[in-house]
Amino acid sequence: MVISYPSTRMRRLRTEDFIQKLVRESELTCADLIQPVFVTEKDSMAEAIQSLPGIKRVNESFVLEKAEEIYSLGIPAIALFPVVEEKNKSKDGYSAWDAEGLIPRVVRAIRKHVPNLGIITDVALDPYTTHGQDGLIDDDGYVVNDETVTALVKQALCHAEAGAQIVAPSDMMDGRVGAIRDALESKGYPNTKILAYSAKYASSFFKPFRDAVGSLKTLSKANKRSYQMDPGNANEAIREVGLDLKEGADIVMIKPAMPYLDIVQRVKKEFEVPVFVYQVSGEYAMLVAAAQNDWLDRQAVVLETLISFKRAGADGILTYFSEEVAIWLKNKK
Ligand code: PBG
Repeated sequence: MVISYPSTRMRRLRTEDFIQKLVRESELTCADLIQPVFVTEKDSMAEAIQSLPGIKRVNESFVLEKAEEIYSLGIPAIALFPVVEEKNKSKDGYSAWDAEGLIPRVVRAIRKHVPNLGIITDVALDPYTTHGQDGLIDDDGYVVNDETVTALVKQALCHAEAGAQIVAPSDMMDGRVGAIRDALESKGYPNTKILAYSAKYASSFFKPFRDAVGSLKTLSKANKRSYQMDPGNANEAIREVGLDLKEGADIVMIKPAMPYLDIVQRVKKEFEVPVFVYQVSGEYAMLVAAAQNDWLDRQAVVLETLISFKRAGADGILTYFSEEVAIWLKNKK
């Protein structure tokens, strides 16, 4: 028998708030959130970022306060991104694996002051190179894969040694997850987790981030299309994820988030592994700008985007809204 109207009334389960709560399929909690934080080598405590209203570049001492605040809000982890001074940038980005460099220093300090906060570090060379590419370049400006992987392994090891529990290669080189996994195993870091930016698209939504870390200027008119994915491709994302998992990734990430929810859903269905999404800087900027104009309700639209990530199959969410959302969730009955 086909059960149909009026024995089936879909609106019956929408009549009261209590029943909506009981039948809700996806839920968003503080435990889903990760706060990205920009750390600068400059002295100034906190510097505004024009295209990311409300987000600041914080210095080495202020980041500890930030980390404490994030932890006390119930957010499980922080993702660190460095803003490197011109004098520490080079063609081969060697300061990326300096054990006394900015990120290892900050990781050690956070581990000491906020020991239970998870730390995710970005493994890629773009903040450290004078050309703004994620890897090493040849004379034609082409990003060379295998030499870059060697550099990324050094960078990942240096983060693990400093105490980062999760290293996150965001560079999209081939074979880097396997190389990093081998190095972590052989150097005594078997429990360091790899969060692989497996399906990272060559997206125009990264622009405010590049403004924040300074790679907008160094990258100039160049692009990252020889390693980041073509936005037209979906099957390719499945291949990328499959390879990263085989090479030893613990968690895979899709980035950006909202324009790629089909990928999130397919990856979750196909592999049944932990999947994270990154609601990137351009997605943040877009929502904030509309809310500032009163064209959209900030809290309502932000929460709607985040629940859509959960519904699609995301486990963890990197978003610049994390702290704000954690406060909203705490105040919600
Ligand atoms: C670079 C990196 C980027 C982001 C995270 N890591 C930008 C890029 O690939 O140019 C973007 C994050 C965002 O836009 O919020 N390794």
